[in-house]
Amino acid sequence: MKNIFVFDHPLIQHKMTFLRDKNTGTKEFRELMSEVSMLMAYEVTRDLPLKDVQVETPIGIANTKIVSGKKLCIVPVLRAGLGMVEGMQNLIPSVKIGHIGLYREHETLQAVEYYSKFPEDISEREVIILEPMIASGGSLAAAVNILKNRGVKHMKIMSILAARSGIEKLAKQFPDVEIYCAAIDEKLNPDCYIDPGLGDAGDRLFGTK
Ligand code: URA
Repeated sequence: MKNIFVFDHPLIQHKMTFLRDKNTGTKEFRELMSEVSMLMAYEVTRDLPLKDVQVETPIGIANTKIVSGKKLCIVPVLRAGLGMVEGMQNLIPSVKIGHIGLYREHETLQAVEYYSKFPEDISEREVIILEPMIASGGSLAAAVNILKNRGVKHMKIMSILAARSGIEKLAKQFPDVEIYCAAIDEKLNPDCYIDPGLGDAGDRLFGTK
């Protein structure tokens, strides 16, 4: 599908091995997620427009470029998306950050918004949603719809690991949204965890299990 992009860079694949390993502890897991996010951010921001500028070097005048106009905002989905923020900020220190909190309603299994906070001009920004795991894709579909309702016209999803069924469903539902991840696994287990996956990303990031 043409709006799904899987990164096969050797450094990303190497780090994915240790993210998956159940013996990787909280500190290392957090560092790895941050590093993978930073490496992915290079590609996800590849189409940022540039404008021509001149600077004076110690020797003469250089015709060169800077990133122009297009204002970015990253939106981590609470709570595991927080693990991807630092890596993005390392690369784009002035990036604005919104937040979306969702929980899954027990009876209907629908994602319900319990928190959201965005920059006031979110509708004029290019948004990158951060969510390390795409399992069924339900919470990401809710996040995309929340942002569309706020008037956001351009958004991308940056994830780390996806289940094939979830990512393909999302890509079909939102053909205008590019979805990036580092690996796709074929299965979901009966509890909706990606199999073999890497476990519960939030628990592993924050040491809650
Ligand atoms: N969320 C996780 O943290 N892990 C999964 O495998 C699926 C959803």
